[in-house]
Amino acid sequence: MKHTLLSILCAILFLSAQAKEGMWVPTLLDKYTIEEMHQMGFKLSADDIYSINENSMKDAVVIFGKGCTGEMISDEGLLLTNHHCGFSSIQSHSSVEHDYLTNGFWAKSKDEELSNPDLTAKFLERMEDVTDSVLVGTMDLKGIELEDKIEQNIYAIQRIASDSGRFEAVVKPLYYGNQYFLYLYKVYKDVRLVGAPPSSIGKFGGDTDNWMWPRHTGDFSVFRVYAGENNEPAEYSPDNVPYHPKKHFTLSTNGIKPNDFVMVLGYPGSTQEYLSSFAVDLIMNQSDPDKVRIRTKKLEILADHMENDPAVRIQYASKYARTSNSWKRWQGEVKGLRRLDAIAVKQQFEEKFKQWYSSSDSLQELYGDVLPQLEKLHMDLYAFERAYNYYKEIVFGGIDILDFSSNFPRSTRGWDRASEFRRDLYRKNLRDNLDDFFKDYNRETDEEVFVELLRLLKKDLARSFLPESFIEMMQKYDDEKLLKKVYQKSVLSDQVKLTAMVDDLNLRNIKKIHKDPVYVLYSDLRAHYLRNVELVYTSINKEIEKQQKIYMMGILSMLEGKERLYPDANFTFRIAYGKVEGYQPGDAVSYLYYTTLKGVMEKDDPDIYDYDVPQKLRDLYETKNFGEYATDNYMPLAFTASVHTTGGNSGSPAINANGELIGLNFDRCWEGTMSDIMFDPDQCRNIMLDIRYVLFIIDKFADAGYLLDEMNIVN
Ligand code: ARG
Ligand code: GLU
Repeated sequence: MKHTLLSILCAILFLSAQAKEGMWVPTLLDKYTIEEMHQMGFKLSADDIYSINENSMKDAVVIFGKGCTGEMISDEGLLLTNHHCGFSSIQSHSSVEHDYLTNGFWAKSKDEELSNPDLTAKFLERMEDVTDSVLVGTMDLKGIELEDKIEQNIYAIQRIASDSGRFEAVVKPLYYGNQYFLYLYKVYKDVRLVGAPPSSIGKFGGDTDNWMWPRHTGDFSVFRVYAGENNEPAEYSPDNVPYHPKKHFTLSTNGIKPNDFVMVLGYPGSTQEYLSSFAVDLIMNQSDPDKVRIRTKKLEILADHMENDPAVRIQYASKYARTSNSWKRWQGEVKGLRRLDAIAVKQQFEEKFKQWYSSSDSLQELYGDVLPQLEKLHMDLYAFERAYNYYKEIVFGGIDILDFSSNFPRSTRGWDRASEFRRDLYRKNLRDNLDDFFKDYNRETDEEVFVELLRLLKKDLARSFLPESFIEMMQKYDDEKLLKKVYQKSVLSDQVKLTAMVDDLNLRNIKKIHKDPVYVLYSDLRAHYLRNVELVYTSINKEIEKQQKIYMMGILSMLEGKERLYPDANFTFRIAYGKVEGYQPGDAVSYLYYTTLKGVMEKDDPDIYDYDVPQKLRDLYETKNFGEYATDNYMPLAFTASVHTTGGNSGSPAINANGELIGLNFDRCWEGTMSDIMFDPDQCRNIMLDIRYVLFIIDKFADAGYLLDEMNIVN
């Protein structure tokens, strides 16, 4: 296998139209890719990006928290990422009295930096192809035995590589398991908040402008990584010292021009570029619309409550943003796929695939079954996919109180058998979760979500996917009764009572919870889901995975020597490159590649929270007090390029031809969000914050210019 892949990756090809598509694995960069990067202007070498012998750019790029990227911008551990990536940290330090979301926050010295218990920065030590080791001893195995063996091998590789916990070691499949890579990270656990602009800058335009161009969001925040002895990771301690990274980026205020080379390094989360037409059909005609429908309802309710109560606005800010983000992306995705006629494009490809394997008996034998199998499996999946999405969006995440129910012990027997030590631990954890939960919980809001989403669940799902008890209840009660008999009767919505119960959690209390009406509802739904939805849903998906692996292998060998194929994103370190350019989203519309502070002033509206420009920013604009960050008298803000990025690339460094930091990736344009499934070089653009705007805000707006003293800034 390895040989085939290698030869594919070394395949000769100069793609012109497709040049910008792709998220490449740095250790698999073939000379044609590097050559293309050079032709587009890149002045450095592959080793400057990734090397295990020398310090390279990869040493300055981190996994920030659970799903973002960040980069080192000083020798003192200063880290730059997006405002929306730091959002939950900023929110967790905020209250109505200290509203850092609204007013921003800047530590005036290192002592004032704020610690964040669960936040980490992971540095990639190295990555390597471990396909052979993962497949050792699997030659004659099939089915579950094969899966088990692979799992055991992966586990062993990770255990040995972690070097007794010094590294976090993760093995991940590439190309649907046609190849495996090991990734070793050093995990820094003391990451402190240094500064964030107010939301009126960092989240300017809010969820309305999210995913849109032209964009005027100053989406950045600043953290600092701390280390213990010898610059090594350590738990939080006031004695920790700023981490000295192996490498940090030089910031360039030279600006950008159309067609300039741009490279984005970071951790793209997930893409599905090699799906069959059947899968694309399911996504665009059912899954995305279903999820959008449910979230539309939820968001309407949240918005209403947030508007009417400033406390709720803070409590639900993060929840709202999270819910709205994918909601909007799914809508863009469907539109984009339609526009590309994605199903037809996939079908044409499948025709080509059929012709290819029909040309030989051995290929026919290997691949002849794949597409019919995929078709059948997706037909089977349709109904279950709907049920899965409804449960996920409503029961396990949509309604807060139901979601919270999952925290309680399900069996009294387990509790009975547990040691007192374990029980204490359980109580303590549960108490922490409970405090977290109620901090961001508003009863009236959740009650309305509860009623509306349960109605939707009942209305849209086939009877067989719902427990009889639930159907009866929904038929018997009107909305008011539903609240009275279930929600309001439940101890789960009463923080005081529930806290007392949790602190003294015992068999009697657990039995009480098990009779609680919300808990009963949750556990009926869950039990039904496990038996009647999940079981089938996962087993079909497992089969699909197997077929996809074969399909992927076929695609790779069909295109060998003809097209370079990158593996789908899987939240591992990747390089994507393209050029600075705008786009034409529709008839007669042409977008420029950059925005300026002027656009902020045009959108200024004190009556709308998301567009209420801070007075100080207005003043800076009026007096043109832009410092050395402006060009030709205007203050640059954001820019677009044709670089293939996805969720997880938020906070990724945008690098120029010289390897200098010119921007901070934070979004994609709405018309191009289908790039997770199908890339369109005409429409797919990533959105970056211009580094000059970041520096301007830190220096002129926040008066935190002392931070700039730590940075290397070139002009
Ligand atoms: N769309 C960007 C991303 O996917 C930004 C999300 C945060 N912003 C927001 N308004 N919800 O992460
Ligand atoms: N905002 C996204 C993130 O959090 C990046 C945008 C995208 O999906 O490309 O990763």
